[in-house]
Amino acid sequence: MFKNGTIMQLGQVVADIDGQMEILHRDFGFGPFEVHIFDGRKVKDSMVRGKPSDHTYLCSSCWLGGVQFELMQPLVGRSIYDEYVEKHNGTGLQHVKIYYNDVKKEVAEYGKKGYPVTQSGGIGEDLFYYLDTEAKTAGVTIEIGNASSVPPPDSYFPEGATAKPFVKRPLRDGDIMQVGQVVKDIDKAMDVFFHDFGIGPFEVFTFTKERHINPMVRGKPGDHTFICACAWCGDLQYELMQPLTGSSVYTEFLDRRGEGLHHLKIYYKDVEKAVADFKAKGYGVIQSGGIGNDLYFYLDTEDCCQGLLIELGNAGEVGPSDRVYPAK
Ligand SMILES: [Fe+2]
Repeated sequence: MFKNGTIMQLGQVVADIDGQMEILHRDFGFGPFEVHIFDGRKVKDSMVRGKPSDHTYLCSSCWLGGVQFELMQPLVGRSIYDEYVEKHNGTGLQHVKIYYNDVKKEVAEYGKKGYPVTQSGGIGEDLFYYLDTEAKTAGVTIEIGNASSVPPPDSYFPEGATAKPFVKRPLRDGDIMQVGQVVKDIDKAMDVFFHDFGIGPFEVFTFTKERHINPMVRGKPGDHTFICACAWCGDLQYELMQPLTGSSVYTEFLDRRGEGLHHLKIYYKDVEKAVADFKAKGYGVIQSGGIGNDLYFYLDTEDCCQGLLIELGNAGEVGPSDRVYPAK
């Protein structure tokens, strides 16, 4: 199903999982979700920060093409999900999950590289390990897992629906195509992601005033500049952004939440039509622009989606990058 070392999942911590599933299903076509109550009966060998844990949480997931989207709502006890909310001043995108067939072997390998496990457990045949990565990855938690079979869910959302299967690319309208992270030092981040986690090489672009087409920030022409680096990892593009000058949603994010996962991007071939459709549903655009034939629009979703910022894009041709990291 997956290749070793590819990103298979994005996870968001929420305070109200039902509310989030409802809005993402109704307005963004996510789902149906499989919903689990994960407690001591379902999760084997649950560990948090080196100690056995009896924390309980609600967890739901759905596939959007080749990427799984997961929601976690902590219920009882303390876990790294609570730590995330405290550290980043609210709920939001917390982890990316990398698939490994032999995940136990990888846990040992990452341990040698200086990434111990912070939280782990097993659900059926499925084993998961969150690694202590935030300090080196500029705020991103990396989970590794074997994506094995889990017991049937406790329920579905919407009720009675059957979950959509994993579907290999090409991209279809409504698929997750990218996760984006804001960082302060893009070269340092690329170095860690490439050498320690096998993500990359990265194509690096500087969005200068000359190159950035029609930049808009909160309804006004934007004069911000930034560096952007992209790498495909399985069916997901990993994006890093480092603001250079001016204010933008990236500088706002750094001020408010610090470095970390910033947005997920949903693909629409006719993205301008999609923007108009979302506008009709009440979602304004907070920032937009283009490079080459690639257009992007950040929707005003953070408040209504419990810290989740959704970007829309057409995956257009961007033209040659300024450089590749690591250099050939
Ligand atoms: Fe993006």
